[in-house]
Amino acid sequence: MPIATTTRRKVIAKALPAVSPYFAGRKHELELMKSHLVEGTGSGRKIFTITGMGGCGKTQMVSYFLQETNRDRQLFTHVVFVDASSESTLKADLQLWVQSLGPTHEEDNWENALYTLTSELTSGDWVLIYDNADDPNLKMRKYFPTCQNGVIILTSRSRVVGSLQNTSHLELGSLNPMDALAALENAAHRQIPSPSKEMDDARILMEKLGNLPLALVHAGAYCHQQSSKRDDKVYHFTFSRYLDLFDKRREALLGKADVFTQEDYERGVYATLDLSYQVLQEASKQFLRIISHFHYSDIPLEMFRAAAQVRFEDPEIYLPRPEEHKKIYSN
Ligand SMILES: Nc1ncnc2c1ncn2[C@@H]1O[C@H](COP(=O)(O)OP(=O)(O)OP(=O)(O)O)[C@@H](O)[C@H]1O
Ligand SMILES: [Mg+2]
Repeated sequence: MPIATTTRRKVIAKALPAVSPYFAGRKHELELMKSHLVEGTGSGRKIFTITGMGGCGKTQMVSYFLQETNRDRQLFTHVVFVDASSESTLKADLQLWVQSLGPTHEEDNWENALYTLTSELTSGDWVLIYDNADDPNLKMRKYFPTCQNGVIILTSRSRVVGSLQNTSHLELGSLNPMDALAALENAAHRQIPSPSKEMDDARILMEKLGNLPLALVHAGAYCHQQSSKRDDKVYHFTFSRYLDLFDKRREALLGKADVFTQEDYERGVYATLDLSYQVLQEASKQFLRIISHFHYSDIPLEMFRAAAQVRFEDPEIYLPRPEEHKKIYSN
């Protein structure tokens, strides 16, 4: 019998998200990270923790740090990015990374990944990022390579994770007002005239959003998207209009007008997401509903390629379905 030739599948490790094009500020935090992880004297394994509320920019901070310090891999030859939100994603990402090292690792599992960091990459020029280590039941120490070199960075919404550090714990807050305005303007692709009523309203909005990067970027992007151009003249959707919409939507959603507690800020973020969602076309809303069943970022493009090849229709029907569910794609 002829021996079947197996085609080797190329394994690609998970990559850190790119720095947002709207990124602003974080200079002080960058210097802190550099001082501990780049310039910091003393050998040994360095563990750095970043904690803060969802959307404050923890993952972006790590991307920014590596963009600024490791452009040509001059600092870390290996950047291992792991989604530590659950045990299964953590193990899967470690395994992906180690298998991406090549044919000699194609049978490796997550434990081999830790072993490789400990015993093979002994020069220690690697950084292991455990992103979203939010689950208190996940004992993270168990997943630290047991060696005396390398850098581990953990991000988490849980402050408790901060205590795992042996260099520094960065408690990441919202942006300062100057950087928050820069993020808002970056996302809106324009500068707000100052002094002006619009600038006053933008500042009120920023305060209501707690200067939280995620929310600012949503608000700015909304104003950009809703602006229009006619006869070569641009009609800006102003932040005054957005503030008005935001207040109404927030009140409708939450039944009160003022923002005070951290929880209220988070709800304010929800209002910004909801406003953006409302202006999507129906097909896009439908699409979002479908992909909400998948991982929040890890959605295989291959799946869409395969679906497009059959024009988004079921190649086989297993169960009867109502007409409107038969296609996710119209026109
Ligand atoms: N410094 C910044 N300037 C401008 N925008 C930013 C900045 N930091 C973060 N953002 C925006 O906020 C979004 C959320 O940031 P990020 O994913 O880093 O938050 P996070 O703290 O890791 O949240 P989570 O706890 O949900 O993982 C980014 O996609 C980006 O659009
Ligand atoms: Mg994150």
